[in-house]
Amino acid sequence: PQSARAATSRFAYDAIPTSTADGISLPAGYKADIVVRWGDPLFSDAPEFDHATRGTAASQERAFGDNNDGMDIFAFEDKMLLVANNEYTNRSILSVTGENRLEDQDEIAKGMMAHGVSVMEVAQVNGAWAVVKNSPYNRRITPQTDMALTGPAAGHDLIKTDADPTGTMTKGTWNNCGNGQTPWGTYLACEENFNGYFSAADEAHEVSAELKRYGVSSKDWGYSWAKIDDRFDVAKNPNEPNRAGYVVEIDPTDPTSTPRKLTALGRFKHENAEVVVNNDGRIVVYMGDDERGEFMYRFVSDGVYAPGADTNELLEKGTLSVAKFNDNGTGEWLDLTPETTGMASSAEICVYARLAGSTVGATTMDRPEWITANPNKAEIYCALTNNKNRGVKTNAGGDETPVGGPNPREANKYGQIVRWWPENADHAASGFTWDLYVLAGNPVVHSDDKAGSENVTANNMFNSPDGIKFDGNGLLWIQTDGNYGNEGDFEGHGNNQMLAGDPATGEIRRFLVGPNECEVTGLTWSPDRRTMFVGIQHPGEYGNSSWPEGGTSVPRSAIIAVTREDGGLVG
Ligand code: FEO
Ligand code: CA
Ligand code: CA
Ligand code: CA
Repeated sequence: PQSARAATSRFAYDAIPTSTADGISLPAGYKADIVVRWGDPLFSDAPEFDHATRGTAASQERAFGDNNDGMDIFAFEDKMLLVANNEYTNRSILSVTGENRLEDQDEIAKGMMAHGVSVMEVAQVNGAWAVVKNSPYNRRITPQTDMALTGPAAGHDLIKTDADPTGTMTKGTWNNCGNGQTPWGTYLACEENFNGYFSAADEAHEVSAELKRYGVSSKDWGYSWAKIDDRFDVAKNPNEPNRAGYVVEIDPTDPTSTPRKLTALGRFKHENAEVVVNNDGRIVVYMGDDERGEFMYRFVSDGVYAPGADTNELLEKGTLSVAKFNDNGTGEWLDLTPETTGMASSAEICVYARLAGSTVGATTMDRPEWITANPNKAEIYCALTNNKNRGVKTNAGGDETPVGGPNPREANKYGQIVRWWPENADHAASGFTWDLYVLAGNPVVHSDDKAGSENVTANNMFNSPDGIKFDGNGLLWIQTDGNYGNEGDFEGHGNNQMLAGDPATGEIRRFLVGPNECEVTGLTWSPDRRTMFVGIQHPGEYGNSSWPEGGTSVPRSAIIAVTREDGGLVG
């Protein structure tokens, strides 16, 4: 019962009710300030955001990008660097035309420059966090930034293009969703829906079966990048999409460094990359492929991590595996090698990781989003956000998606969080056991399995868990990217929100509710844990928000800093 749990609570706040207000709701004693918003200049040679024009390609390239998602703090000498992904852009908000398909050359280029990664020095001025304008560390990494290709696929024919006949250098990163951080102080930006940016001037062009499995087609989603850069014309450059869909390693402390695409970690629609140092020193990276009926992956390095030693090869050489869950609570990691997959080389396995996973019988999942490791024990959690196709139909080119195991509901609307324990607490072991930490639902509207698990109540219900991250205290923070209609199956869920869960008792308490039509995504802390940085993405995506400025202003994605009025630890 809840009352018994309260006695041993590790929550430093009282749960809050849901909300449909166009603002941020927090528990008593907490406050939120804006740190940076879409279009805020990082350099004084760029103008302030212009609500009338929403900026230009030139201003956007010198400003914080749009739709911030994963992020991390890097404390460095006496400085604090905040690194954040700018995942995508809502074209109808970005452009004054309000159209979803961009036509104007500068609007297309502005959209492109709103993507990528922003590196920013931040500091507290009179108690409020702000970007240090013109810091030498401030940097925009965009879809045009030079990047090195590393790992098994580097130099392979599948990733060679006319512009790069060696297959070792590429340009840019886009649709960076979740992230990761290495123990050697680099940032990992994870490329997710990279496919929606490719098109062909000839719409009758047929892409290969391999590209279809990744959702590439002759029609893009409205970004129109092929109109300003031939790289994105898949008829002219059929290998260009093979150069996206990776995890990108960035050194935020060296603004001249060349980001590295890590092909060893596989090519799929990456959510985040949770890095663990195993007991034996090997680096283990857990990753989800956020697509209905795709897989969960693990990378184990060949080499071991030693502080101060060269780390370059750790994420270039190793073994990529996919997860298979059994209905009886056990599971195993299936290695993807030429022997197990029948594929010609590890290069091909990395580029076509989804196809490799299908050959070994990996478990099709309900859209694996973020993965996070408990800092106190060998225990890992993954948010399976929802899957309307579960048991109903299969994605083009994908595997069957039967109901069962960690994906127990047909046409899953609400999502769940699965967790597992590696055999012998060894993250490199092939075996594990698993259970479901929570099955989201609506116990007010439903009394069957759509009500959710026992730790879901009328007071904490939510749908579509997405961003999850442990804090240093061992609380599991849960961010949602779900249905905010607040009616029918979702009555009482309100706007997207953030909650925290106790991994030991299962108790979940709501902490924050975001503004209208937003998603809450991206989470990190100052090293002293007195500030929590939270991402608010796409407020007003359908035109019904003016957060954060209010009135008739353009809604803008932003990072907020949550602190306690008494200066205490957050959470
Ligand atoms: Fe960009 Fe899977 O969320
Ligand atoms: Ca996400
Ligand atoms: Ca999502
Ligand atoms: Ca999103």
